[in-house]
Amino acid sequence: MMYNYLKFEKRDEIGILSLDRPKALNALNEEVFKELTCFLESNDVENIRVLIITGEGKAFIAGADIKAMQEYSPQNAYDFSETGKRVFDLIANLEIPVIAAINGFALGGGLELALACDIRVASEKARLGLPEVNLGLIPGFNGTQRLPRLVGAGNAMYLMMLGEGITAQEAYNLGVVQKLSEPELVLEDSIKLAGKIAGKSPNALRLVKEMVREGLEMGSKDAGKMESKEFGRLFKEDQKEREEGVNAFLEKRQPNW
Ligand code: HXC
Repeated sequence: MMYNYLKFEKRDEIGILSLDRPKALNALNEEVFKELTCFLESNDVENIRVLIITGEGKAFIAGADIKAMQEYSPQNAYDFSETGKRVFDLIANLEIPVIAAINGFALGGGLELALACDIRVASEKARLGLPEVNLGLIPGFNGTQRLPRLVGAGNAMYLMMLGEGITAQEAYNLGVVQKLSEPELVLEDSIKLAGKIAGKSPNALRLVKEMVREGLEMGSKDAGKMESKEFGRLFKEDQKEREEGVNAFLEKRQPNW
């Protein structure tokens, strides 16, 4: 598949997807969403253990395409918001871990995309924020929901009401970002982290992701029950990865998933 606005590269079991629209700071429009949908539903993601998402040039993603939105009717705007949500849900629901390698500006819809990923690594020089209130807008790709679940309502309100970007260090302090990197090392550090994660049981990683994501939508009692059930299921006879992991530990060797 040829893409206009995406680049994909595989390094061993790690996939690196770059948003490639640097002249518009990788701003998200309907074309970009079409290509992202194509990619996320393709078998490229079936053949990797960890996906990294990053941006070409000086930005990660500077948000939704403001020029394109200028022409929108209420129906267009609603549809755009729904389309973006569907794409970001595809990312959030992938069975493999997804790391956002935030190489530069992650603003508005760009930060919302990073929030749909499982882990965020950021360049110390990156700026992150939700500037929608400067435009008379609100976050429209589930940022109003994902951010408070990640960092609590107070920190989320702070970012959404402030409307100006914060430094990567501040984002790290708030828990928006999990790891800071020197600017030229952000991708390399993300690949290292992905490499470590790629060595773990794929089945366990899938379940960790599912428990956290599904659990956030449920009451904690029901979520706890769901966890017990899945934990129990890991001890069925056909659960080869659990068997291999435990045997490898007891035999003092590396597991082979
Ligand atoms: C369209 C954009 C863009 C955007 C930048 N560009 N951001 N185009 N949509 N979101 C374009 C600029 O118009 C410019 O094009 C080129 O990219 C380079 O940007 P500059 O502004 O010249 O770069 P710089 O001076 O370095 O400033 C970088 C910046 C600034 C601080 C990131 O570009 C900026 O504030 N961008 C907008 C950020 C924003 O408000 N994002 C939220 C959007 S709303 P030309 O043609 O002039 O070279 C949103 C809502 C999501 O995301 C929900 C929707 C449902």
